[in-house]
Amino acid sequence: MRVIKTISRLRPLIRAVAEKGMQSGLVPTMGALHEGHMSLITQCVRDTEFAMVSIFLNPLQFGPNEDLDAYPATLEQDLDACRRAGVHLVFAPTAAEMYPTQPSTAVANQKLAHDLCGRTRPGHFGGVLLVVGKLFHLLMPRVAYFGEKDFQQARLIQRMVTDLNLDVRLRVLPVVREPDGLALSSRNSYLNAAERALAPGLFKALNLGRRMIVQDKETNVSRVLAAMRGCIEETPGMVIDYLEIRGPDLAPIEHINGPVRLLGAVYVGNTRLIDNLEALP
Ligand code: PAJ
Repeated sequence: MRVIKTISRLRPLIRAVAEKGMQSGLVPTMGALHEGHMSLITQCVRDTEFAMVSIFLNPLQFGPNEDLDAYPATLEQDLDACRRAGVHLVFAPTAAEMYPTQPSTAVANQKLAHDLCGRTRPGHFGGVLLVVGKLFHLLMPRVAYFGEKDFQQARLIQRMVTDLNLDVRLRVLPVVREPDGLALSSRNSYLNAAERALAPGLFKALNLGRRMIVQDKETNVSRVLAAMRGCIEETPGMVIDYLEIRGPDLAPIEHINGPVRLLGAVYVGNTRLIDNLEALP
C-alpha cells in the first residue's frame, strides 16, 4: 500500500494508473475510521482494480465554533485498517498541502446546501463540495463511495457531479449501525456513558416514524413528525436540531404517497448526531 502526502508525488502515480486504463475507486474520509468507513472501503476494494482512500480532516467544512480541534485523529490505526482491507493508495495530505492559500474559488450549491444540516451549519457543504471536487480532480477515480449516513452530503455531491459533468460514478452505501441502532460515527467518541445510552433515541424516533408510514399507512407528514418529536422529547438530555420527512430527492412534501426519507439531527450534550431512514409506504 502506498501512503502519499503530497500532490507532487501523487500526480505521476495517478497518471500511471490512468494510462494503464485501470478502474480506480476512491473513498473520501476524514479519518478516525470505523466500520461504517470500512464498509465503503471493502466495497471499493472489491469493485475496483486500484482502491484509493483519502484521509483529510478538512478545516473548510467546520464552522468557527465546531469540533475541528477535538476531532479524533488515529492515522496509524487508519493506515493499518486500510492495509488489511487491501487498499492500494492512501492520500493523506496536510491542510497546508491542500490549501496553501485560502481558496477564493467556491463550489456552491444554491439550494440544498442551505437546507436541513445547512441551516445549522452554514458554510459546511461549501467546504465539503470544494474538498471533494479537489479530491476528484487529484485522484481521478472512476467510481467514488459515500455513506447514506450523510444522505444530504451524498445528494449534494451527486448534484455537483451532474452539474459539472464530472466523469465519476457515485455509489452510496447503507448506514452501518451499532446493535442498538446508533449509526456509527467518529463523533460517537465524544459521548460519555450516560450520553451514549441516550444516543439511540434518534434512531428510535426515525423508526417510529417509519412504522407509522409503513405499517399504520399514515400519510399525514405533521402527524408523523409530531409522534417522532414526542419520542425525542421523552428523552431528557436530547435536543432536536431538526426532524424532517422529505421526498427521495430531499424536496419538501405535503403528503406521504410514495417513498420518503426521514431525517433527523439532535444534540446529546454538546455532541450533534445525525441519522436518516427510508420509508416505503
Ligand atoms: P467522514 O465523516 O469521515 O465520512 C466518510 C464517509 O463515510 C462518508 O461518505 C460517510 O457518509 C461515510 N460514513 C460515515 N459513517 C457511516 C456509517 N455509519 N455507515 C456508512 N457510511 C458511513 O463525510 C466526510 O467524512 C467528509 O465530509 C468528506 C466527504 C470526506 C469530505 O471531507
